[in-house]
Amino acid sequence: MLGAKVSIKYTKLFINNEFVDSVSGKKFASINPVDETVVAEVAEARMADIDKAVAAAKKAFARGSEWRSLQPAQRSALLNKLADLVERHVQEIASIMTLENGKPFAHAVGETQMAADTFRYYAGWCDKIQGQTIPTDDGSLVMTRKEPVGVAGQITPWNFPVLLYAIKLGPALAAGCPVVLKPAEQTPLCNLYLAALTKEAGFPPGVVNVVPGFGPTAGAALAEHPDVAKISFTGSVEVGKLIMKASGNSNLKRVTLELGGKSPLVIFDDVNVDKAAKIAHEAIFANSGQVCIAASRTYVHSKIYNEFVEKSRELALKRKVGDPFDAATEQGPQVEKDIFDRVVTYIEIGKKEGASLVTGGERIGNKGYFIQPTIFANVTDDMTIAKDEIFGPVQSILKFDTLEEVIERANKTTYGLAAGVLTNDITKAVKFAQAIESGSVWVNHYAATTLQAPFGGYKQSGIGRELGPEALDNYLETKTISIKL
Ligand code: NAI
Ligand code: MG
Repeated sequence: MLGAKVSIKYTKLFINNEFVDSVSGKKFASINPVDETVVAEVAEARMADIDKAVAAAKKAFARGSEWRSLQPAQRSALLNKLADLVERHVQEIASIMTLENGKPFAHAVGETQMAADTFRYYAGWCDKIQGQTIPTDDGSLVMTRKEPVGVAGQITPWNFPVLLYAIKLGPALAAGCPVVLKPAEQTPLCNLYLAALTKEAGFPPGVVNVVPGFGPTAGAALAEHPDVAKISFTGSVEVGKLIMKASGNSNLKRVTLELGGKSPLVIFDDVNVDKAAKIAHEAIFANSGQVCIAASRTYVHSKIYNEFVEKSRELALKRKVGDPFDAATEQGPQVEKDIFDRVVTYIEIGKKEGASLVTGGERIGNKGYFIQPTIFANVTDDMTIAKDEIFGPVQSILKFDTLEEVIERANKTTYGLAAGVLTNDITKAVKFAQAIESGSVWVNHYAATTLQAPFGGYKQSGIGRELGPEALDNYLETKTISIKL
């Protein structure tokens, strides 16, 4: 295990297979949320750097280029090589991620392994991207071809920076699109390490470019760039709307968005309360609550409500918060001061609006961004903490009586990313799963996303799907060719 002693090798922008300084020479700090120290200074991309990166990607995509001339099996071999390299360097990648993000090291290792699996999964798709032959009325031969859409711009957040790097790059590269990826300003270093591996795997220059910087400068420049054909974004609803606007204001680039949620987990009275409380606990507190699919509304049947709240309180009190490099730690700090402040503000709002604070509610220590696992009971649908995405370790437990009632209440949100239901009654489970307005529904477990199945949001939780074969469609145009015989 490398842990906190890992050395930071890559701090410059990765453009055209080289690590380069930013045009302005400006840098920014990646901060360790455990103790607020600087992990490293990183080159800061702005518009001029985005221009350079997009130009490199555009050149890599030119007709007859090395990249365009690769056969599908050769693209597949590159992605498999990248998967091998990520696996070989799991310790370094996970160590850097934990330093920047604060998540427990064991979780960072698991996430990095999943990133390798993602590259391998999409490696398998490269030579399975097929069109159709279509019978027509006039007897001409009509066929479709799936072609890469062009340069893909990708903007990622900091909560799963390594997995999201793979979820974005995997399908784009499998489809044949070169990429300019702007990682979140909180987690640039683990992304730059991955960029170095992309070069080592043998991708030609310009195919992958990684340009750390801030949202309103680097991110906006990418979203507005006329030579970017497609933009894929994961983050807040607020910025997702800006990305849509930027697309409309520039070249109508194709847009997919993954924007978080306020996901309900509904627990009926026929369950084992111990087990249900554990599932609900992990569903909200994993990754310090900084998860787009966090089950931030726990709906519990009135018959088991008090018992459930008590079990949940015991679990929250037992949850070990602290140094993410300590193997016993289950929860690290929040990622940065702004996010920490937001969560603290929401906890205060919860108290003011009359929810019952069951446990937690305070900062831990006076250095770093640690927050106690917090539970509110007697939460009602109209309270702010039941409506807004808090993105922190705050569980809200609500009470319900009937299936019809809980379906209606669960759907009363502008979000629609995920939902869960715990019950042994198959009819209730299926009725709920069919009625809920969300992109994923888990029955008798939670957060069980897999690489092979589509993932994305209804309503303001996003547009389009990632993962599974559907993710490839985001990076492909369909061309219809008709031949008169
Ligand atoms: P954010 O949406 O501001 O940042 C996400 C990414 O977008 C970062 O790479 C950022 O640099 C970039 N960005 C910011 N402004 C931009 C702009 N004008 N144009 C282009 N790119 C831009 O999210 P932030 O500030 O980190 O977190 C705020 C809240 O957003 C969280 O509390 C949470 O509620 C939500 N969020 C949801 C995530 C998800 O997994 N869906 C991930 C991160 C945040
Ligand atoms: Mg922001």
